[in-house]
Amino acid sequence: MNIGLIIHSQTGHTLSVAEKLQKKLAAAGHTVTLERLETEGEVRPGVKDVRFKSLPSVGNYDAVVFGSPVHGFALSLAMQAYLRQVPSLAGKRVACFVTQSLPFAWMGGNRALRQLKAACQAKGATVCGVGGVNWSRRSREGQIAEVVNRLSRCVPS
Ligand SMILES: Cc1cc2nc3c(=O)[nH]c(=O)nc-3n(C[C@H](O)[C@H](O)[C@H](O)COP(=O)(O)O)c2cc1C
Repeated sequence: MNIGLIIHSQTGHTLSVAEKLQKKLAAAGHTVTLERLETEGEVRPGVKDVRFKSLPSVGNYDAVVFGSPVHGFALSLAMQAYLRQVPSLAGKRVACFVTQSLPFAWMGGNRALRQLKAACQAKGATVCGVGGVNWSRRSREGQIAEVVNRLSRCVPS
């Protein structure tokens, strides 16, 4: 299966989870491409015109995983802007994850995941699984392993 991991990561947390997921999916025999969203300049709240250095296309992927940090109790503005311009995810299996620094999912993680899932479903995706990692928790490594396991099982149909 041809799987795209499309992630936004400012400080590397989300990227590190995506790299583990990539390794796991590749070990299972899938072709996995990790694409990191990079914006032109800083993205501040209220900025409507988010520009990207390059725009990953989802067209060639059978399945896509989206990963993003939580910013201001919401999905990062860069991921929101990226998903707005995706033409369609119809017929694709999609999984989503977020990372956040605060210790509880209700401190932004749940809301960001709801936004991410809804944005993908609005483009026609079948969302097979979601997951979150609380970076400041002692259980972080266990959470990462759990999310990587769960999403690596759900994405390939
Ligand atoms: C502008 C900004 C806003 C943030 N808001 C939240 C938040 O509302 N809740 C939370 O748990 N973490 C918040 N964080 C922390 C990040 O979500 C967390 O460190 C995340 O793992 C960073 O991922 P990255 O390294 O992939 O960018 C915020 C970070 C930044 C820079």
